[in-house]
Amino acid sequence: MDLSVTTRKNISGNKPQNKERAAIAQMFNKIAWRYDFLNHFFSFHIDKIWRRKAVNELCGRQLDKVLDVATGTADLALAIQKRLHPGHITGVDISEGMLTVGRQKIEKTGLEQQISLEYGDSAALPFNDLTFDAATVAFGVRNFEHLEKGLGEMFRVLKTGGKVVILEFSIPQNRIFRSIFHFYFFRILPFVGRLVSKDAHAYNYLPDSVQSFPHGAEFKSKMESCGFSGVTVRPLTFGIASIYAGIKQNT
Ligand SMILES: C[S@@+](CC[C@H](N)C(=O)[O-])C[C@H]1O[C@@H](n2cnc3c(N)ncnc32)[C@H](O)[C@@H]1O
Repeated sequence: MDLSVTTRKNISGNKPQNKERAAIAQMFNKIAWRYDFLNHFFSFHIDKIWRRKAVNELCGRQLDKVLDVATGTADLALAIQKRLHPGHITGVDISEGMLTVGRQKIEKTGLEQQISLEYGDSAALPFNDLTFDAATVAFGVRNFEHLEKGLGEMFRVLKTGGKVVILEFSIPQNRIFRSIFHFYFFRILPFVGRLVSKDAHAYNYLPDSVQSFPHGAEFKSKMESCGFSGVTVRPLTFGIASIYAGIKQNT
């Protein structure tokens, strides 16, 4: 695996790229047109409830600036705006295809002043230290090529006292649910995903990436080692997904 950074220009501007990041961006570019439909379809629309629960983690906070990392088609950014009305939300992502769909949704809802989307890599967020009151990621950390760097970058750009909220797939602890989850994720989802998205790779990548990703206590300890305090883990729907939240106590 070649992780060397090149400064080659790509079609979406003058952005440093490496091969792995470019491959992930390309994969999401390809499925962007079908992403929202498949997301809701495969999760029986439960993903909307999970995002709402993630937004709940920010209730009661003074929110001027919010950052949504790996914002994709901006579902979480839109949910935060509709529910909490922060001053401004910035969404960043490495897939221009996903950002384009996200911008269209933001325009449709007339929220262009409140939410802006831009290219941004989790490993080198294009913002100053101590900028945001909250940082969020939904189903994105699993794709970061450098998890610790991504968590560290969110820690850096948060203001002191700021909160990070991460929603991600996890593996159910209960053996019966785990078997059902495996069957669905490894058999049904890749097959239907391939048919509907016309992309053979993306819906094989999804279960593989979930399987190999740290969850529960292991992910909590990664957040703690990146500086977050008071980290909580909240399993959702038998542990198929989890919400992790933590505070930046000091710099
Ligand atoms: C499964 S989608 C999640 C999108 C959205 N947050 C949601 O809730 O539906 C994962 C997103 O992570 C983005 N992504 C992957 N690696 C990234 C990185 N290093 N920096 C920023 N975004 C990244 C992908 O382009 C994709 O849009």
